[in-house]
Amino acid sequence: MLAVFAFFTPLVAVIHSSPLPKHARIITRDLDLAFSYDFVIIGGGTSGLTVADRLTEDNKTSVLVIEYGHLYPNESDIHVPGLLNPTPYQFNITSTPQRGLENATFAVPAAAVVGGGSTINGMFFDRGSAADYDAWVELGNPGWGWSDLLPYFKKSETFTPASANLAEEFTISWDNTAHGFDGPVKSSYPVFQYQSIKNFISAWHSLGVQTPQDPSSGLAKGVFSGPSSLNPTNKTRSDARTAHYDAVAGSRPNYHLLTGNAVGSINFVRQKATGVEWLNRKTFDYGYVNAKKEIILAAGAAHTPQILQLSGVGPKGLLYSQDIPVVVDLPGVGQNFQDQPTLYSSFNFTSNFIPNADTLYTNTTYAKEQLALYASSRQGPYTICKNRGNVVAFNPLPDTTQGYKSIINLIVSQSPEDLYLPNTDPSIIAGYEAQRKIIRNLHNSTTTSVLETGFSSASEVPLTLVKPLSRGSISISNRDPLDPPLVDWGTFTNPVDVEIMVAAVKKLRALMATTSMQELSPVELTPGPNVSSDDEIRAALKRQVQPTYSHLTSTCSMMKREYGGVVGPDLLVYGAQSLSIVDASIMPLIPATHTASTVYAVAEKAADIIKARHQL
Ligand SMILES: Cc1cc2nc3c(=O)[nH]c(=O)nc-3n(C[C@H](O)[C@H](O)[C@H](O)COP(=O)(O)OP(=O)(O)OC[C@H]3O[C@@H](n4cnc5c(N)ncnc54)[C@H](O)[C@@H]3O)c2cc1C
Ligand SMILES: *[C@@H]1O[C@H](CO)[C@@H](O)[C@H](O)[C@H]1NC(C)=O
Ligand SMILES: *[C@@H]1O[C@H](CO)[C@@H](O)[C@H](O)[C@H]1NC(C)=O
Ligand SMILES: *[C@@H]1O[C@H](CO)[C@@H](O)[C@H](O)[C@H]1NC(C)=O
Ligand SMILES: *[C@@H]1O[C@H](CO)[C@@H](O)[C@H](O)[C@H]1NC(C)=O
Ligand SMILES: *[C@@H]1O[C@H](CO)[C@@H](O)[C@H](O)[C@H]1NC(C)=O
Ligand SMILES: *[C@@H]1O[C@H](CO)[C@@H](O)[C@H](O)[C@H]1NC(C)=O
Ligand SMILES: *[C@@H]1O[C@H](CO)[C@@H](O)[C@H](O)[C@H]1NC(C)=O
Ligand SMILES: *[C@@H]1O[C@H](CO)[C@@H](O)[C@H](O)[C@H]1NC(C)=O
Ligand SMILES: *[C@@H]1O[C@H](CO)[C@@H](O)[C@H](O)[C@H]1NC(C)=O
Repeated sequence: MLAVFAFFTPLVAVIHSSPLPKHARIITRDLDLAFSYDFVIIGGGTSGLTVADRLTEDNKTSVLVIEYGHLYPNESDIHVPGLLNPTPYQFNITSTPQRGLENATFAVPAAAVVGGGSTINGMFFDRGSAADYDAWVELGNPGWGWSDLLPYFKKSETFTPASANLAEEFTISWDNTAHGFDGPVKSSYPVFQYQSIKNFISAWHSLGVQTPQDPSSGLAKGVFSGPSSLNPTNKTRSDARTAHYDAVAGSRPNYHLLTGNAVGSINFVRQKATGVEWLNRKTFDYGYVNAKKEIILAAGAAHTPQILQLSGVGPKGLLYSQDIPVVVDLPGVGQNFQDQPTLYSSFNFTSNFIPNADTLYTNTTYAKEQLALYASSRQGPYTICKNRGNVVAFNPLPDTTQGYKSIINLIVSQSPEDLYLPNTDPSIIAGYEAQRKIIRNLHNSTTTSVLETGFSSASEVPLTLVKPLSRGSISISNRDPLDPPLVDWGTFTNPVDVEIMVAAVKKLRALMATTSMQELSPVELTPGPNVSSDDEIRAALKRQVQPTYSHLTSTCSMMKREYGGVVGPDLLVYGAQSLSIVDASIMPLIPATHTASTVYAVAEKAADIIKARHQL
């Protein structure tokens, strides 16, 4: 890290302008931090930079983005897909003991870098099904369904189809009418695939699972190669930093970005949000700025609820316990936490094709050769994001197990009160009950998926429950903004989720038994050959499942206030004025997909809502 800072510091203009502390740094061209801005955006990640870009299109509108992480010059472990290493660019947070996972604790994946999750993610750039977003409308959010969001998915991207050869050989297909061709984020395909990908695709076909014309057109199920957030010209990562900061900020004196500073709280005059306070991560110096029009939270699903709670907006019991004066008693802040639990199953594919995705790590000659190929001509496996590849299968519940009806019946038989602690606010229970009915219907349909199986040709095969019924929470444990919040995923606290994963393991085994996968001679290592009865699978899952697929959402949900919601469809925080949220925390139900492209679409829509609200 020291080396990085030494490299980094000289590039940064250190600007001091009264009344700001001397350490205040602003990464633009030659500008001072002003005393006040029209908008102050907390968090320069995926959603924050998208909204900042759109609001600063009008040069009369001033925006300051305050970001915890740094703006790195040109790191190859960020921009070369096959060299990705997210670790240096993440918060170091450990979860609370997970009671559904034998009290194990887990690292919390949360980006701490300009660009946020989009800068360090697996570059998977898919969308959920129409039903995933229509469910948001059903929860009381008019204007947030599939047909409302589709224009924003399109606005956010410039899509480039796969080459005809690769498409033909690896069954890649798309539908141009589902895509945008003029947006800031580049969406394209890696230019290389490993041979055994074909086995995975034909194995699913032999089980009756098809390849959709385009998984981005509202029905995200089947086996497919998804697009990546990949710049097709130089085969580097396309993220919020390159798309929504680098591309525009240099020519916009009204777009300011302050890095390396942790926002600690929002200041209120009565319930009106008026200013933002922060601490410098290195010097602990204090900074403050006013917002004339609105303060916009975009700190991500782990930190947006933390900042609200530190500012006195949250469950009053929690605020009392920390001696924080209550600005708005809002029980839903930090609740309804969702993510996608994942079993990293693994196999010894004893007759796998060589090369496969493991070869880069087992054969240094091959790795060197391929990196040189990438450097010289942007070809080969380094155009694929490390570890995960871009080939997946998504299955609805009825296509996963014939026993789906008994799972639906189990949902029907549950009482939401049993799943929450006795002193839970009734609004949280009511919101969960509304969601549970919707999920029951989705699980009982083939309009969206419950299960994702990834295959990169490597030995590790992630099995992910993409629409869980378990809920977790985020809460502060003290008043120090530099201390992480308590992160409790609540994984497997609803036994239905365990039952779906049991079905998933069996489906995976059926997949591995197909002629196509047998060509690779798989020997199961995890869960393991001695795990066979349902009870053994349940027990193994509780030992082996990870609570996250790095898709943290829903901790400040857009729902009715009587459902434990935190914002309404206008994204304004209930009970407060001039305060909105635009990040992954507002999704009331996690869509059955990777989350980044949805975050962009939500942020694009949010920018339009905010502009309209202020007649910009
Ligand atoms: C390792 C990893 C892999 C992933 N893989 C994929 C994938 O392949 N495909 C996909 O679609 N999605 C993926 N995701 C998820 C996706 O990237 C996220 O859902 C999305 O980026 C979230 O956007 P956001 O705006 O809500 O938050 P973020 O993009 O995380 O932005 C929040 C920002 O706020 C900053 N911040 C936090 N606290 C403070 C504070 N107190 N003060 C100032 N700033 C603060 C953070 O540093 C961060 O930059 C992945 C995520 C991670 C972390
Ligand atoms: C804003 O843009 C308009 C139109 O391009 C230009 O005339 C004006 O000078 C700009 N104002 C500022 C403050 O840059
Ligand atoms: C960034 O690094 C890559 C090599 O990883 C190099 O090709 C490119 O020219 C660099 N860009 C800049 C602006 O330095
Ligand atoms: C987390 O720890 C890693 C490894 O020590 C480090 O590189 C990274 O900078 C730390 N992240 C933060 C946000 O401090
Ligand atoms: C997990 O912790 C709780 C509370 O400390 C305890 O009651 C329970 O027995 C533990 N479970 C396991 C599997 O260790
Ligand atoms: C790749 O190209 C984009 C512009 O299309 C540019 O913003 C980005 O910096 C380039 N990446 C590298 C690593 O050179
Ligand atoms: C995988 O199988 C091969 C061939 O049977 C064997 O040599 C190797 O040790 C196995 N690897 C693991 C991790 O089990
Ligand atoms: C490693 O890769 C090199 C270059 O592709 C190849 O020639 C060699 O046979 C590989 N070695 C093994 C053990 O597979
Ligand atoms: C599930 O769907 C079927 C029709 O496909 C319907 O008959 C049944 O009532 C549904 N079950 C529940 C619990 O909604
Ligand atoms: C299966 O074998 C592993 C490794 O020997 C062991 O840890 C595990 O407990 C066994 N599981 C069952 C269900 O017997």
